[in-house]
Amino acid sequence: MQKAELAVRLRRQRQQEFWAIARELLKDPNVLRMRNYPQHRGTSCLTHCTAVAWYSFLLYKRLGLRGRESELVRGALLHDFFLYDWHKPDHGHLHGYLHPARAARNAARYFPINALEREIIRRHMWPLTPVPPLHLCALIVSLVDKCCTLSEVAGYRYPSFLYY
Ligand SMILES: [Fe+2]
Ligand SMILES: [Fe+2]
Repeated sequence: MQKAELAVRLRRQRQQEFWAIARELLKDPNVLRMRNYPQHRGTSCLTHCTAVAWYSFLLYKRLGLRGRESELVRGALLHDFFLYDWHKPDHGHLHGYLHPARAARNAARYFPINALEREIIRRHMWPLTPVPPLHLCALIVSLVDKCCTLSEVAGYRYPSFLYY
C-alpha cells in the first residue's frame, strides 16, 4: 500500500474513533448551547472545544499513548463549557481566572464526569491559574488549547468537519 493511502486510512480511522467518543456529548442540547457564544474572532465556543478535543486526541495518539482517549476527548470538549459570552462587560477581566471552575461545575451538573475529566477542565488555563496540570492528558489539552487559541486569533480556518 502506498504511503499516502496509508496516511488517509489512518486519518479516517482516527476520525471514526474520535467521533465514537465525542458523538454523545456533541448531541447534547446543553453542549450545543456553546454554539451561541463566540470564543475567538469568528470561532464559536463549540468549534473551539471540538478543535481542542480533536487535536488533543491526535497528539495523544502521536505520542503513542493509549487508554485514556475517552476522558481526554470528553474533558477537552467540556473545557470551556462556561456557557456565557465572555466578551460582555459583566463577565469582565476575571473570566480567564474563573471560567475553568465554572466549566467544571456545569460539566458536573449535566454529566457524570470523572476525576480526570475534571482535572482536564480545571487545569487547562495554567499558568494563568496557579495549579499546574498533574496528568499528562490535562497537560496535552492545556497546550493544545493555547495553540488553537493562537490559530483562531490569527484567523486560521479549521477543517470543515470541526465546524460542528
Ligand atoms: Fe478556557
Ligand atoms: Fe479553550
